[in-house]
Amino acid sequence: MSKPIFVLNGPNLNLLGEREPHIYGHESLGDVEARCVARAKVHGMTIVFRQTNREGELIDWVQEARGAASALVINPAGYGHTSVALLDALKALSIPIIECHLSNPAARESFRRTTYVSLAATGVVSGFGPVSYELAVEAACGLATD
Ligand code: DQA
Repeated sequence: MSKPIFVLNGPNLNLLGEREPHIYGHESLGDVEARCVARAKVHGMTIVFRQTNREGELIDWVQEARGAASALVINPAGYGHTSVALLDALKALSIPIIECHLSNPAARESFRRTTYVSLAATGVVSGFGPVSYELAVEAACGLATD
C-alpha cells in the first residue's frame, strides 16, 4: 500500500461555501475533501486532508509529509503570498508538490501574483474552483512516489 497523498489547506478555507462565494463558490471544504477522496480512490490511493488557520501548524504538517506522504497537494491560501517559512519547509521535501487554488490568483489583485509556494511546486493548478483540487489529486496520483 502506498503512502497517502497529503492535501493541506491554509487559512480561511474552513469558511469555504460561506466566504466570498462569488470567488470561491458554494461548496464546503467537506465537499472538496469528498472530491479528493473519490478521485484518489480511482487510482487506489488514499488522502490525508487537513485545514489550519495557523502558519506554524501548516509548516509542521509539511514537515510530517516528508516521511508520511507520497505526494503533497497544498492550497496555502493567504500564506502562499507571504510565507518564506512555508517555502523553506516545502523545499525540504523530495516528494512531488502540487500547488492548488480555487481561484486564479494571477487574474486578481497584484499582491496575489507572487506566490512563494510556486518556487517549490512541481506544478500549479488554479482557477477551476473545487475541480482544481480534483486535477491536483489526479496529478499527484500520477507523480506519487511510494
Ligand atoms: C486561494 C487564493 C489566495 O489568494 C487566497 O488568499 C485564498 C484562497 C484560492 O484557493 O483561490 O485564501 O488560495
